[in-house]
Parts: sequence; structure tokens; C-alpha cells
Amino acid sequence: MASILVCYGTGEGQTEKVADRLADELTARGHDPTTVNVKAVGSDLNVADFDAVLVGASIHFGRHQKAVRKFVGANRDVLVTKPTGFFQVSGASANEDGAAEATTYVEKFVEATNWRPDRIGLFGGAIRFSEYGFLLGALMKRVVESGFPDVDASGDVEFTDWESVDAFADAFATFVEERTGDAGSTE
Ligand SMILES: Cc1cc2nc3c(=O)[nH]c(=O)nc-3n(C[C@H](O)[C@H](O)[C@H](O)COP(=O)(O)O)c2cc1C
Repeated sequence: MASILVCYGTGEGQTEKVADRLADELTARGHDPTTVNVKAVGSDLNVADFDAVLVGASIHFGRHQKAVRKFVGANRDVLVTKPTGFFQVSGASANEDGAAEATTYVEKFVEATNWRPDRIGLFGGAIRFSEYGFLLGALMKRVVESGFPDVDASGDVEFTDWESVDAFADAFATFVEERTGDAGSTE
């Protein structure tokens, strides 16, 4: 059983939901994930204590959470010694037209942090009108209406492909097992 840190930043909760789903799948594979919101990381959390690490962030106005960049920067020297993955949640990954844009965000992140994760997962996010104030809600409604004309923008919309989240967790579990020689436990 490998201990796997799943550390994430989130604005309206979708990356947290993805992190929880990844953790569920890693648990099903017999591993021991710990999910932590990057904002709640305290001095008692030592990245070196884990066998593997997943880092997640979402995109707002073209950028990932600053706290995630800081976390990666502060722990880069340890991260490069372990099997790692990065997952990104964005509107760009909600459909294939945004694939190049989503990849550009990752490349910027890699450049800014000087950390190249072993595995990368790109997932569509959600538009949560219920979490936005009036002005942001009006802005996001226009974004959805112009970018996703077939989508009903009268309520919250989730674009995340959960099968692809599960597949990423599975592939990462296999990678960790190969790297650590720890086959997981399904007792
Ligand atoms: C204010 C705001 C700005 C956003 N900007 C972008 C953007 O520049 N590019 C993009 O691909 N998605 C963008 N999105 C979509 C978010 O990435 C998506 O809503 C995601 O699910 C947010 O995840 P979170 O709830 O974990 O923060 C934006 C969303 C909001 C609310």
C-alpha cells in the first residue's frame, strides 16, 4: 500500500471534488491517499513522508491558484524524487476545442515552478452559478452562452468526465506500483 498525497487548490470546489474522486479510486486500488486543500497545509505536513504525490489546480483567468504554485515551489526538491502527477481542472478542457489552451496552461505552470510531473491529467471543470456573486454570474453566463451554445446556462453545469478521472487515477496507481514495487492491498 503506497501513501499518496493529493494536494489541490480550488476556487468553487470542483477541483476538490476531482481530488476526492481520485482518492476514492486510489483507495479502491489498495493505496492510502490523503487529500489536502493547499490552503490548509500546515507545517506538520511533510511531503517527504509520502510515497507519491498528486498536485491539482484549477484555472481562473488563465492562471492556477497561487498557493499551488507556492506549494510546488517550496517542495520541488522533494517532488522530483518521487512519482508525481499534476491534474488541472478548467473550462478549456470542457471540450476538444480547448485542448491546446489547456496544454498551454500546463506548460506555463511547468515553466513557473520548474517542476515537470511524471503524469498529467486534464479535466473539464464546472460552472457554478450558485457560487458566484451577481456580476461574476452575469459574466460567466455570457461565457457559457458564447462558448457552449448547446448548454443550458440556467443552473450549475458540470463538464467533468468522471470516467476519465477514474482512468487517470488507475494509470497513476499502476505507475506508482511500478516505481515503488508496492502492489497495493485489496484486503
Ligand atoms: C472567474 C472564473 C474565471 C475562469 N477563467 C478560466 C480561464 O481563464 N480558462 C479556463 O479554461 N477556465 C476558466 N474558468 C473555468 C474554471 O476553471 C472552472 O470553473 C473550474 O471548474 C474551477 O474549478 P474550481 O471550482 O476547483 O476552482 C474560470 C472560472 C471562473 C469562475
